[in-house]
Amino acid sequence: MKKRLFTGLQPSGALHIGNYFGALKPFKDIAGDYDSFLMIADYHSLTTMRDATTLRSNIIDVVKDYIAIGVEPDEVTIFKQSDVPEHTELAWIFECLVTVPFLSQAHAYKDKVAKGLEANAGLFNYPMLMAADILLYDADVVPVGEDQRQHVEYAREAATKFNNAYGETFVPPQEMVLKGVGIVAGTDGQKMSKSYKNTIPLFGTKDEISRAVMSVVTDSSGDRPENVYSIHRLFRTESELEGLYAEHAGKYKDLKEALIEDIETLVAPMREKRSEITDDDVRTILKNGSEKAQAQAQKKITEIRDRIGVSI
Ligand code: TYM
Repeated sequence: MKKRLFTGLQPSGALHIGNYFGALKPFKDIAGDYDSFLMIADYHSLTTMRDATTLRSNIIDVVKDYIAIGVEPDEVTIFKQSDVPEHTELAWIFECLVTVPFLSQAHAYKDKVAKGLEANAGLFNYPMLMAADILLYDADVVPVGEDQRQHVEYAREAATKFNNAYGETFVPPQEMVLKGVGIVAGTDGQKMSKSYKNTIPLFGTKDEISRAVMSVVTDSSGDRPENVYSIHRLFRTESELEGLYAEHAGKYKDLKEALIEDIETLVAPMREKRSEITDDDVRTILKNGSEKAQAQAQKKITEIRDRIGVSI
């Protein structure tokens, strides 16, 4: 019996290099070794998205992206969170078990409040929906980027709280953070993130990728432009980079051009493959995936309803 793997991502816009190295690539590399589930977290994305047309096309795009990088829909259950209502049901059950101070410690919520912005209740409860995602599937491993580590800790905590209240029901899940990648930095040196507008698009045209790389912030205090280097090290070994950066010391434009070529070498064949996938292919993949996901989710929620006393 293969162990179960579960991961997810929000369909909140074009994927970037941070998503690729923090989540897509590690997922693709190990998906075949597990009974793997990949969920498009469309309900999570409602915490920030309001435009239905954009959401619809983002969902289609993100599935195409995964297939283009080499994920096999025959091997991996790819599905949409909103197609399996057991997720929101279990989230509610967890929300009734955890406290407000506990949820107030979540980074995403705290960051929003620290910026003086008003957080919606969805953002506040976000970690419990994510806990439900993971725990409905009895996932053994959860591959995520460093920025999601805390959310998996919340899922472990939700599992423990439920088990303490109602008896052993959930296996506390384990995150799997790819070593050496950590948080991929964006063009300004902060975490690469759509909301910071500092991304290098994964499936952009060569022009879009070039524009993003050329905008990487450099300072003139040393020979090595650190923000360029920190992205470049994802594409080449340190010893390869040592030679390249020594040869072009101080020549930031040359180094950025080398980075653009390295990105293009990786992306061009995937871009080609992506152009052959139709919207209808995606609809079929999601329909098949949600049937498989729901079979598992229904089994688990039946046990949960029984435990909490709502099935009579
Ligand atoms: P999301 O959509 O923000 O990101 C998807 C995945 O990409 C990783 N990632 C990064 N890794 C390294 N550096 C970066 N700059 C970077 N930006 C994004 C994220 O760590 C993530 O693995 N809450 C999740 C989606 C989700 C989920 C789940 C994940 C919902 N339910 C259950 C796992 C299991 C999120 O917003 O990811």
